[in-house]
Amino acid sequence: MIVTIDGPAGSGKSTAARKLAAAMQIPYLDTGAMYRAIALKALDKGVPLDKPDQLVAMAESTDISLDCGPTYVRVVMDRRDVSEDIRSMRVSEHTSQIAKIPGLRRVLVEKQRQIGRRLGSLVTEGRDQGSIVFPDADVKFLVDAEDTRRAERRYHEMLADGEEVRLEDVLANIRLRDNNDQAQWAPLLASGEAVRIDTTDMTIAQVVARMQEEIRRRQPAGKKTP
Ligand code: DC
Repeated sequence: MIVTIDGPAGSGKSTAARKLAAAMQIPYLDTGAMYRAIALKALDKGVPLDKPDQLVAMAESTDISLDCGPTYVRVVMDRRDVSEDIRSMRVSEHTSQIAKIPGLRRVLVEKQRQIGRRLGSLVTEGRDQGSIVFPDADVKFLVDAEDTRRAERRYHEMLADGEEVRLEDVLANIRLRDNNDQAQWAPLLASGEAVRIDTTDMTIAQVVARMQEEIRRRQPAGKKTP
């Protein structure tokens, strides 16, 4: 079974995807981590972010391997563990910029489909998982929340990770990324195919329960979901 979860930064999709995958006992794929890894490499190597051809060539020759566990995502890029480095605010900002490049998206979409083919069943999260990467997914979710709420969540996560940030900067960053990222998940929104969940006033447990209910409802009679 393939379950896709798309939505903006701070919507709760990563935590929900991780917990849902653990409950269903199937793997979880964090596709944002792949875009982040490429942005980090470009920044480290000084590849200009406004040179699509160079970025695409760099992405094609980059080895990214992901180990997405129930409480962690381990990302190894060209044999270097970048799991922590890819989460900084600097990388977040630049990621949304490079994620707009069609050629780069094609490279990463292909890598994601390969992972999907290899795994067979998975919960995958990003912006275009239900629309572009896995259009035949069994269940598609679109999660969203008010931007102030999303910024608060992100702010608390960053504080817990020891980053020194101000709430207003996190909110500005979220709004900037919304602007950049919206094009990626707008088609799914417009298609009406996805189950929409507004997580503004929901706990993660409630979000996961809502998803499980939807999956159960769509499952053929006689088949049980954990
Ligand atoms: O989900 P995230 O915040 O880790 O995503 C990081 C960036 O990558 C974000 O700016 C959106 C982009 N992204 C994308 O364009 N498509 C995806 N499938 C996943 C992430």
